[in-house]
Amino acid sequence: MTTRRQVLRGAAFTALSYGRILGANDRLQLGLIGAGGRGRSVMGQFQKTGRVDVRAVCDVYSARIDEALTRAPGAKGFADHRRLIELKEVDAVLIGTPDHWHKDVCIDAFRAGKDVYCEKPLTRLREEGPEIVRACRVHGRIGQVGTQQRSGTVYLEARERFVKSGLLGKVSHVHCIWHGGPPRPLRLEPAEKPPNLDWARYLGPVKWRDWNPPQYFNFRAFLDFGGGKLTDFGAHWIDVVHMFMGMDAPLSAVAAGGVFHTFHDGRTAPDTISALWEYPGFTVNFESFSVPRAAEYHVEFLGEGGRLWINRNRYEFHPADKGAEPVIQKFPGDITYQHVQNFIECCRSRKPPNADVYIGHRSCQAVLLANQSYIEKRRIRFDGDREEVLPLGA
Ligand SMILES: NC(=O)c1ccc[n+]([C@@H]2O[C@H](COP(=O)([O-])OP(=O)(O)OC[C@H]3O[C@@H](n4cnc5c(N)ncnc54)[C@H](O)[C@@H]3O)[C@@H](O)[C@H]2O)c1
Repeated sequence: MTTRRQVLRGAAFTALSYGRILGANDRLQLGLIGAGGRGRSVMGQFQKTGRVDVRAVCDVYSARIDEALTRAPGAKGFADHRRLIELKEVDAVLIGTPDHWHKDVCIDAFRAGKDVYCEKPLTRLREEGPEIVRACRVHGRIGQVGTQQRSGTVYLEARERFVKSGLLGKVSHVHCIWHGGPPRPLRLEPAEKPPNLDWARYLGPVKWRDWNPPQYFNFRAFLDFGGGKLTDFGAHWIDVVHMFMGMDAPLSAVAAGGVFHTFHDGRTAPDTISALWEYPGFTVNFESFSVPRAAEYHVEFLGEGGRLWINRNRYEFHPADKGAEPVIQKFPGDITYQHVQNFIECCRSRKPPNADVYIGHRSCQAVLLANQSYIEKRRIRFDGDREEVLPLGA
């Protein structure tokens, strides 16, 4: 019997007739949906390749469109992503909306025959992942998730040099931390909604509430719009664990934390979180605190052959053998640029991208299980083949 996982995994990377087939010298025609900080920054990386024209920009807040258009003169502006993806001249879209819109925009874009680079976390809810993967496969599109570590030379080289070579040896635990710096109060202004911001369209799939500035400007602090630090940062690090360990489904997840700082500003996402996953043969923990100290973020693999420490521009391998010299290597390149290049190449070759939507879905699934544990205050046991939480007592 073919399992649902096999169906979702079985990529159909063919360009269907309604998507333009890019020739080797064709420039990719891009649309940006969600022109906030990250959307505009990644758009810049696309432009830096010299192989892309930005043809359209969409945002629910027209001030953001105006900002993006200063860097993409001549592009069309839209308030509704459905109008942008109707454009025949657009080959691919970059999605930089908050997490609660990723699923709908991805699926609409795939249906319209567009390739998609969607920022991480791919999903806000666990059930959204299979829907996105299915739409990508059914419509024969390329779907890359913005977990840029997958294309980063620092990660690719470390995996070859220490994991695949066997030097790291059997790994029994992976320690991940991401401290985002000191806690900050939420933005409570402006009290009146800007007239050029479509609040109803911003809320989209989230239940209605009146204008609420932090829920727009600091959406990460609210579980209705995202998954807090576990999906914001944890989605990156668990993806690195999956990439290095060759496994993508935990057996169980447990997490504890809370809103412990004293701003009393209504936030619902924990500012302090610790999660622990069990995989076949090893455990992973992730912690993220808002503490008054410098930001710190890395993943550390503890193997029988040594300790591999890695972040976005450096790795260190400390061999277990007494007296053996550590290997320390720095990498100056921008891993998002490398990831964008991989996407553009795959739009041409129709080969699976480094962070295909199935990979993004499985990584997001793992962190969302930990969020479920945090909310339900219990250990979540998981069947990764069926993608189902096991009932209590099973
Ligand atoms: N890969 C990374 O390292 C990385 C880094 C930062 C952010 N991100 C991700 O990028 C996404 C955006 O983060 P950000 O910091 O840029 O947020 P942001 O609030 O600065 O920008 C989001 C933009 O999306 C717009 N928007 C909301 N709903 C929309 C809709 N339906 N259609 C069109 N536009 C819409 C908002 O008006 C806003 O301009 C998040 O999912 C975040 O997790 C990834």
